[in-house]
Amino acid sequence: MRNGQAKKPGLFDQIGETIGNNVIIRSIFRTGGLPANWDRRQRMMGVLNNVFLHLHPVRLPKHAVKVKYTWCMGGLSFFTFLVLTITGILLMFYYRPTAEHAYMDMIDIGEQVPLGIMREIHRWGAHLMVLAVWLHMFRVFMTGSYKPPREFNWVVGVILLTLTLLLSFTGYLLPWDQLAIWAITVGANMGGASPFLGVEGPGASLMQIGDVKLVHKAADAAFVLKAGRFVGEATLLRFYVLHCIGLPFVIMIFMAVHFWRVRKDGGISGPT
Ligand code: HEM
Repeated sequence: MRNGQAKKPGLFDQIGETIGNNVIIRSIFRTGGLPANWDRRQRMMGVLNNVFLHLHPVRLPKHAVKVKYTWCMGGLSFFTFLVLTITGILLMFYYRPTAEHAYMDMIDIGEQVPLGIMREIHRWGAHLMVLAVWLHMFRVFMTGSYKPPREFNWVVGVILLTLTLLLSFTGYLLPWDQLAIWAITVGANMGGASPFLGVEGPGASLMQIGDVKLVHKAADAAFVLKAGRFVGEATLLRFYVLHCIGLPFVIMIFMAVHFWRVRKDGGISGPT
């Protein structure tokens, strides 16, 4: 509007309006018309009607977007997870989880495959995600954001941290080199000393009826992790499935709950 007169719509505005009101386009984007011409209500509806945009609140308090307050570490944790998912899927096209092929496939990805840099991005991304999640947890603790009403989301966060570390642990075996095999041998054997689930752990002595020990070496946590008494091909397959399908599936469900709870708890906490 200029000098009290409405601006005459130009040719592009008219084309935009026509496309925006087309019956097929309207069946996908319900708000209709050209976004540039939307009034305040239409803009709000445009956000609410879009599956991706509606994940963000229509309005945000100023402090919630201050990097100084959030350090953006929750966002970075999620971003690194997305990068790891994309690069991980690309790696799956080349890597075969068998004792015969795993090591050479891993070397070949770096040396022969055009997008071999994917492996480096995946590896460094994994380190970055672990770091980002720890820093995010530290920030949430330092700002007291674990206090009611956010205590449940803190618990969901602890589960996310555990899943992140498990993703890292299961990925460690996949290169199938000496470092991987022996590191996983040490790591998995530690499971044998866990309470109740480990035959060498402090809980195991309690799990017996009379003289019969209920936990035995063929069924404790270390055995389950290794799929046998020693790290071998069965362990590699188990870790591969957990790393590529099982754990990412579970972590995505918990992330959805985590983000949903941030919104339901009144958005990101603010300086008190
Ligand atoms: C995969 C791991 C995780 C992802 C992707 C993630 C993502 C996020 C995002 C995007 C936010 C909102 C903004 C921000 O603070 O950056 C957030 C908030 C929050 N996160 Fe996480 N998070 C993860 C792990 C954790 C962990 C380990 C904890 C604590 C044990 C935690 C507890 C919380 C809490 C309590 C909030 C609300 C903070 C507030 O209102 O100020 N999260 N998370």
